[in-house]
Amino acid sequence: MNSAKIAPNPAKLTPNLGLKDRNTFGLDATAELAYEITCAEQLPALFREFADKKQVWRALGGGSNVILPNQLPGATLLINILGQDISQSDEQNTWVSVGAGLNWHEFVSWTLEQSLPGLENLALIPGTVGAAPIQNIGAYGVEIGQYIDSIEAFDTEAHAFITLPQTACQFAYRDSYFKQHPQRFIVTKVVFKIPKAWKPRLQYADLANQFTDPNYTPSAKEIFAAVCAIRSQKLPDPKVIGNAGSFFQNPIVANEQYELLIQKFPNLISYPDTPGMRKLAAGWMIDQCGFKGQRLGPVGVYEKQALVLVNHGGGDSTDILHLAKTIQDKVQQTFGVQLHIEPNIL
Ligand code: EPU
Repeated sequence: MNSAKIAPNPAKLTPNLGLKDRNTFGLDATAELAYEITCAEQLPALFREFADKKQVWRALGGGSNVILPNQLPGATLLINILGQDISQSDEQNTWVSVGAGLNWHEFVSWTLEQSLPGLENLALIPGTVGAAPIQNIGAYGVEIGQYIDSIEAFDTEAHAFITLPQTACQFAYRDSYFKQHPQRFIVTKVVFKIPKAWKPRLQYADLANQFTDPNYTPSAKEIFAAVCAIRSQKLPDPKVIGNAGSFFQNPIVANEQYELLIQKFPNLISYPDTPGMRKLAAGWMIDQCGFKGQRLGPVGVYEKQALVLVNHGGGDSTDILHLAKTIQDKVQQTFGVQLHIEPNIL
């Protein structure tokens, strides 16, 4: 067999590319130099060039968790590495290897077609497979970190590929090792480990309400459909109205602070977290402050879910951050709690 390596095609470069269709907020940003990355092997040569030229860069997946400025100077990498396959299987688990650029929801649908249930609670989350573990996406009682075997990424400091096992990924609520080290890694491939033993996870009230017959066990496909229905009802479709999902994280406070808050606000919605800590529903707090459905110029707070900020059209990052600051100040004043912005501000 010929062991000589075939050089990959270089990444396609488009100067001054408009990114309005490539970020779910619908922000009219322009990338000075947009590189389309279709295979991981394109990265080493590109980053050698960036190092020589001292080029600034950032990577973009589905653009569903970012706030883009009007101009993105330097290089913007559009990660479009595709492909998925069942790489291994034993009695307990199935391993699936997936390119970072695959659309997350399409991947979840594909796993169900392959009779690999497990990810159904995470249906309809916008974005790509590669971006999903960075913020450890989660919904309806499930987080992606539980299903990850390892992550392959290009380390732009060491100029080498690394494979990080799940235990090294430091997954936590909307957090990971990759999020802790911004501007260092580019996720190229994710390997999932999906247990063959499956049972529905319906502890989350919204989802449980869809299946009230205690004698009926819904299938993964039925749960998938129910999650899609709930999300479509509560969350705005980015194709119709620009948004980046939850705009703030649900803040986690010490039990002592929670006890004081619940005395003052008996209807406060919260969930148990790690020992001694409590997670508060930021959406409820923002709603109580009267922001739901409000507008500030071209941007506003979604009328059905106060945790979601929306772009009614023509808004830019300055408008969004101004509204975010107004909300943060009011919530701080009312509840004494600091809200943290969830999407990355580039
Ligand atoms: N609530 C209100 N008013 C609102 C919004 C929410 O009173 O305007 C109340 C709800 O009634 C509910 C509680 O607050 O009792 C929590 O709301 P919800 O169930 O909608 O969930 P969330 O905490 O706002 C989180 C995730 C979502 C995920 C859902 C379902 C975060 C930051 N967000 O939202 O994730 O889909 O739970 O699991 O953790 C995302 O990250 O982009 C995202 C959509």
